[in-house]
Amino acid sequence: MLNFAAMSTETATATSASASSHKAWVAKRIHSFVGIVPLGIYVILHLSRNMSTLGGEKAFNDAILDTWKSPSHYLWTALLVYLPLIYHSVYGVVLTMRAEKTNFFKYPNFENLRYVFQRLSAVGMLGFLFAHIFLTRVHVSMGWLASQEVNPSGQVTFAYFATHMWDFTKGTAIVYVLGILATVYHLANGVTTFCISWGITTGAKAQQRANVVALVFGLLLLTMGYLAVAGFFIHGGPGTGFHEFVTPGGPMAPDGFIGKFLPHH
Ligand code: HEM
Repeated sequence: MLNFAAMSTETATATSASASSHKAWVAKRIHSFVGIVPLGIYVILHLSRNMSTLGGEKAFNDAILDTWKSPSHYLWTALLVYLPLIYHSVYGVVLTMRAEKTNFFKYPNFENLRYVFQRLSAVGMLGFLFAHIFLTRVHVSMGWLASQEVNPSGQVTFAYFATHMWDFTKGTAIVYVLGILATVYHLANGVTTFCISWGITTGAKAQQRANVVALVFGLLLLTMGYLAVAGFFIHGGPGTGFHEFVTPGGPMAPDGFIGKFLPHH
């Protein structure tokens, strides 16, 4: 005889299991989407604007003033950068906690290595973003900066970055070099997983092509980021008028072990 009570419990369990797996499917798609569409686009625009350091102090300061000329930019930044960033980071941690941790040791192949680096670069990137947002936002909102370090729209200036980059005791330059590397790897590798998740690359050949595109894209982005950092060294630093901002007692200060050998006004 059929047991209808048991069957309806099974059906209910199956329905709720499929509802929750559908929810997880949607959450994963949103995670992948926001990583590429608002956040990936933001990184490309952000680094290309920051390459204005190559044009010197005025070019960079003008580019920042231009970004913030409309007060609605705060609203767009909150909606298109901070909100997706919080979702992508929190859900990324959840997915990593749920994932099989020993896969790489069982199958130490290139695909699994890329997966491991995707997680490691996320950790590096979060550390970098914490430092970067602290430097560009928290310092300003706390009113810790001198007037030369903040522009009329309340953003940090070229002099501020150049001073930090040149003060090697703070390690800012190395944090930027590593942070840009982590960001670029995470984003470029993320493009290939995005294409798989969204069914854009289904076959092995298409996935190989996406790997080549991601590699070229990553190298371009890395060059952009490093050129932005280079601009602070080419146009800023000792001898170009910024040494007066250098932290007293640092190696670039007039009595520091490097500063001693540099011209001071
Ligand atoms: C040389 C490299 C970089 C420079 C000079 C730089 C410069 C700046 C500046 C001036 C700001 C203040 C707001 C603005 O006008 O954008 C800022 C904010 C920010 N940057 Fe960067 N950045 C660099 C690299 C990066 C990288 C690699 C990322 C990776 C995701 C990143 C993510 C952010 C985020 C999320 C904010 C906060 C958004 C805001 O509050 O406006 N930056 N950056």
